[in-house]
Amino acid sequence: MTENSEKIEVRDAEAFKKMPDEYQELLVHQLRAHTEGELTGADDYTEIFYPMAPNAFEKRVCCERAAEEMDHYIRGAQVLEGIGIDTAYMLKQRILEREHYRTEGVRRIHNWIGRALFSFIGEAAVLNIIEEMAQSSYKPIADMCVPVLMDEHGHVGHGYRICRELCQSAEGRAQVQAGLTKAWAVTLDLFGRSNSERSRQYVRWGLRRYTNEEARQRYIEQTTPRITSLGLKVPEDVSLRKFL
Ligand SMILES: [Fe+2]
Ligand SMILES: [Fe+2]
Repeated sequence: MTENSEKIEVRDAEAFKKMPDEYQELLVHQLRAHTEGELTGADDYTEIFYPMAPNAFEKRVCCERAAEEMDHYIRGAQVLEGIGIDTAYMLKQRILEREHYRTEGVRRIHNWIGRALFSFIGEAAVLNIIEEMAQSSYKPIADMCVPVLMDEHGHVGHGYRICRELCQSAEGRAQVQAGLTKAWAVTLDLFGRSNSERSRQYVRWGLRRYTNEEARQRYIEQTTPRITSLGLKVPEDVSLRKFL
């Protein structure tokens, strides 16, 4: 738990402008990365997953998800606009020109199992990160996260259902297990470096609740029973990890 995050409450843009530079800088970085990530999510669903969707139902799901990720982008962009930051330039960028999540992990998804794991494993990590932001000391961020979280629960649930279907046969389960090795490593890395001083600053200012390593361990604890319930094993191989 945090030392003093409960005490910090920044109600609106006016109050934000009176906060110290460190708070302002951290918040802008966090929200810019989040907002850009939402836009990349819309691109993932339209450019990567829609073409590989096996039927009309799944193609429709991709369209719905893309619309929801765009809505999340718009919400983030509005909060940034409130503090004088324009994000329209992001709409013109191609994925590889983006600053934050270049989602290399997503670019390397070539099949439907990868798409299922993206939602079941990857979006669950994003959901955890947004859950922390839903308790942000900056009220406009906390408010913005409420509808976003509802959508993201649906995204994770859909990934879980596809995996569950695939895991009904021994062959399918073996394929999901093989895909999980890569997806797990990419996802654990999403939480960032364990020794990051910045992650501690975020916690001190109430912009996050957990440091990178605390958030990663919490995610592992939450996700492990969901993985094992499908008859899968949590990968132990750390050779694919970048941040430990
Ligand atoms: Fe989203
Ligand atoms: Fe999502």
